[in-house]
Amino acid sequence: MTSSVTRPTAKDVLGVPALPPARATVAVNRLRDRLLRLHRRLAPPPVQVLESLFGLLDHRVLVALCEAGVPDALEHRMSTAELARRTGADADTLERLVRFASTRGWLRVDRRGGVRPTAVTAFLRRDHPGGWRAWVDFAGGADVVGAVQLLSASSDADPFATSNGHGFFEWMALHPERGGAFDGAMEAGARMHGLVLAKALRWHPPESVCDVGGGTGTLLATLLDLVPGLTGTVLDLPAVVGRAVEHERLTAVAGDAFEAVPSGFHTYLLVNVVHDWGDDDAARILASVALAADRGARIVIVEAEATAYAPSPASASHRRSSWPRSHAAVVSARRTR
Ligand SMILES: C[S@@+](CC[C@H](N)C(=O)[O-])C[C@H]1O[C@@H](n2cnc3c(N)ncnc32)[C@H](O)[C@@H]1O
Repeated sequence: MTSSVTRPTAKDVLGVPALPPARATVAVNRLRDRLLRLHRRLAPPPVQVLESLFGLLDHRVLVALCEAGVPDALEHRMSTAELARRTGADADTLERLVRFASTRGWLRVDRRGGVRPTAVTAFLRRDHPGGWRAWVDFAGGADVVGAVQLLSASSDADPFATSNGHGFFEWMALHPERGGAFDGAMEAGARMHGLVLAKALRWHPPESVCDVGGGTGTLLATLLDLVPGLTGTVLDLPAVVGRAVEHERLTAVAGDAFEAVPSGFHTYLLVNVVHDWGDDDAARILASVALAADRGARIVIVEAEATAYAPSPASASHRRSSWPRSHAAVVSARRTR
């Protein structure tokens, strides 16, 4: 059995030549926070309100352009008419969407009206090694969009469950196409996390690693590729494990982290897992891991760094939150900590 995960590079997953030092990342995030706050404050309140309301166009235009295959067709500079011919899109509508997209940096329109790809266009292509396009497929789905539309201040119900009739993970298991889209989105982040964790933590092969809620095992396979001699087990729900990647040092186990986590590993990873659950459920998962972990084992919890990009409405006690946490919090009534 060989690895089906090609060894990702920083250029593949983030578009940078090398992983930046943590301090540089924190500094850049702070700078972005400040610039964003300044950008907002420079606009009068009514403009801020209108800009916020029409933020929904960002989501829809990006999805529509990707559905039309624009990033894939836009290999080099071309006219909108040529882009329309290549994608089969309506030329007039495409012209307007392309103009909108150019204000967001997803592509560029030059002075003579030619459309050019940008670094973001490349990341939106289906064949890009970072795989981030999968996020468009996932976030553009009717199940996610419907959940967002049901957000209301008058109820504490889970918008995703209310909209779709099932909780998020149950729905994904019942709809393999959507489950695959969600897994694909997770895999994009997992490549990045695998790359970062290989560098950020000390590993002592032949160390064994259990990735709890580790999706299709992409993070673990990336880590195993980068740290020879490590062995790993990914634990996730049966439907997800059924789509697990293959790697000679990786074992995929179907299970339920609320019930039990495999015991005896040197390291347990929980990456973007705790944020999916309310306090009681999060405590239950952590208790399962604590029960499985022998004395001396390490437990590594990875959650996204807080930025001001999208403060979460999930918890009034936390002033700042990251986008991924706020996304989960908004559509599925989850928690920010
Ligand atoms: C937000 S995703 C994170 C995936 C992965 N750790 C990553 O960062 O790419 C949460 C994962 O938890 C898994 N999950 C949900 N409920 C679970 C349960 N009861 N037991 C084990 N895994 C579960 C989901 O299937 C999903 O793969």
